[in-house]
Amino acid sequence: YRIAVFASGQGSNFQNLLDASRTGDLDAEIVLLVCDKPQAFVVERARRAGVECYLFNPKSYARREDYEAEIAAELEKRGVDLVVLAGYMRLLTSVLVEPYAGRMINIHPSLLPAFPGKDAIGQAWEYGVKVTGVTVHLVDGGMDTGAVIAQTAVDITPDDTLDSLEAKIHDAEQRLYPQVVSWFATNQVRLEGRKVTILSE
Ligand code: GRF
Repeated sequence: YRIAVFASGQGSNFQNLLDASRTGDLDAEIVLLVCDKPQAFVVERARRAGVECYLFNPKSYARREDYEAEIAAELEKRGVDLVVLAGYMRLLTSVLVEPYAGRMINIHPSLLPAFPGKDAIGQAWEYGVKVTGVTVHLVDGGMDTGAVIAQTAVDITPDDTLDSLEAKIHDAEQRLYPQVVSWFATNQVRLEGRKVTILSE
């Protein structure tokens, strides 16, 4: 099972998926990293691990559709089964969304539909909610709007700080994302509109 990871930043989720794949905990291979920020640390992680990278600078293209068409060709060439967004900080157009409908997922650090967009952990912290969490969802053209596949709740307790909350959220992400990818790899995900069912659950 062949996956491509799209990321723009630190790449802790990329690293976690890579580790799970290399230890055999996850029966899937990362065949490509797609990154819009050549200086991002995730690129260094991929290089160290010998994972192929497709790097691009969005500013060199007139339209989003133009670089996405190039990405689509790279995915096609490698027979990618699932596209995994992990801190990829751009919206996608139909050039990628349509061919990968039902086969493209994102992880977001809140319980959607609460706190979509940037800095979801900070938004939840400022709002003062007692429970937040992590969502894995299908990708459509909107901002964190696709059908929900799985969620993990994280309590915000009186002793938490923004830093400790971030740590708890990232732990929850690292448990949830490989699990969801493995559901796809073993063909256990059924889609019916916005209703997503996992056969093994
Ligand atoms: C994660 O919190 C993820 O939920 C969000 O972006 C962050 C990426 O972190 N979409 P990393 O690059 O995987 O370390």
